[in-house]
Amino acid sequence: MCVYNKNFFTFKQMTFATPTDSQETAKRIENFFTVNNVKMKVIGMECGPVVSKYVFELLDDTQRIAAVEKLKRDLGIRLGIGASRVLIGETEWQGKVALSIEIPNKDRVIVPPETVIPIDFDSVYKKTARAYDLGLDDYLSGNTPDISSIATELVNLGVDTAGRPFCIDIAKAPHILVAGQSGSGKSVFINSLIAGLIGNAFYGNCDVCIIDPKGTEFNYFEGTPHIGIERADGKCDGKIRSSEEAGDTLDYFVNLMNNRLAFFKENHFDNFHHHRTIAHLDGECNIHKDCGPNDRGALKVLVIDEFYDLLMNYPKLEDPISMLAAKARSTGIHLILATQRPSTDVIRGALKANLSTRIALKVASRVDSQVIIDCPGAESLCGHGDMLYVGPDTDIPKRLHGCMLTQADLIAMRDFAQKNWKY
Ligand SMILES: Nc1ncnc2c1ncn2[C@@H]1O[C@H](COP(=O)(O)OP(=O)(O)OP(=O)(O)O)[C@@H](O)[C@H]1O
Ligand SMILES: [Mg+2]
Repeated sequence: MCVYNKNFFTFKQMTFATPTDSQETAKRIENFFTVNNVKMKVIGMECGPVVSKYVFELLDDTQRIAAVEKLKRDLGIRLGIGASRVLIGETEWQGKVALSIEIPNKDRVIVPPETVIPIDFDSVYKKTARAYDLGLDDYLSGNTPDISSIATELVNLGVDTAGRPFCIDIAKAPHILVAGQSGSGKSVFINSLIAGLIGNAFYGNCDVCIIDPKGTEFNYFEGTPHIGIERADGKCDGKIRSSEEAGDTLDYFVNLMNNRLAFFKENHFDNFHHHRTIAHLDGECNIHKDCGPNDRGALKVLVIDEFYDLLMNYPKLEDPISMLAAKARSTGIHLILATQRPSTDVIRGALKANLSTRIALKVASRVDSQVIIDCPGAESLCGHGDMLYVGPDTDIPKRLHGCMLTQADLIAMRDFAQKNWKY
């Protein structure tokens, strides 16, 4: 089994045999473009769980990319997969930017949870716990890995077009917009994000609070440590919030943000990351160092599902959300907003600028795709967790496939967390 190791985390990499007809498809693509006066050559291909990607270069410098894009619907029909299923775009290939054609596979493979949650939960937990238990002397003598690199929150979004796990650091994200039409896989994707966050959150350094207006999508997390809002004893209440409770929840987060800002200012910390690194260097075994009363200093992630509907019903919530989006990142509070209506009524101006990580699942039209990731493409996705990611580190949309966590996986995670997690 092939694995991928980033810091301490080991995720499963999926591997796929190249389809037997790939050479033939590459030839058909080249022939199709040649007869339509576009000289191009397929220079590589990779196959993943959902699509096969053919990377190509244009042979004639006078050739315009627009001419290639114009032919994409015809190509889809010629290949027998439908006019709207082919995605043509830029891709990174062997250190350079090239063009690619992505074509859905005949048989789609479901992305398993091991790609998103560390394979060996138990040993990952022990390994990271041991690293934190080493004190200041070990750190300074170089016996431990760079603590600042561990003290990030990696979260796995799924796998790329070759089946490789794809992680982002939520501290750099720093707020995430997830949008796609009904049934495109938003809730399944967010479930996997939360599971990844909790799975990677050793020593309880990450709490996730969920506002679920539908009240049905995240029930398996109910009762998990690190879910909900922190109580006076430093433990989370394990509850999922409804839309009626959204106002109070947002007030709690705005307060927390303001208290942390005041605490960091008073104690000369630049930001949350700085505070946490110093907390380690103090030689404390515990990752946490309080950020004032009733705040044990955990990274906080606030997830809001059906964000558009919530704002339509409670317009006054827009102010606290915008405030959090604008100021909360340096205090270790991150937002994940999901909506099936990527409308400019709610995703606009300053809020949009602050949601620098955007994930578009399948949408109905080019216009919707444009609203989410500032370019078309998401209208050609295959649905069910197929997505385009644009982050602060890249302008080129990256195609990823989300993993599917079953009810049994979520229950197993909750039970593991209840048994093993420390505060
Ligand atoms: N990554 C995935 N792999 C396989 N199937 C998936 C995946 N994601 C979603 N699905 C399928 O799509 C269905 C709908 O997903 P989900 O409920 O997440 O959609 P949604 O975008 O939240 O829809 P709504 O906007 O109506 O809430 C799921 O029940 C599941 O069968
Ligand atoms: Mg949903």
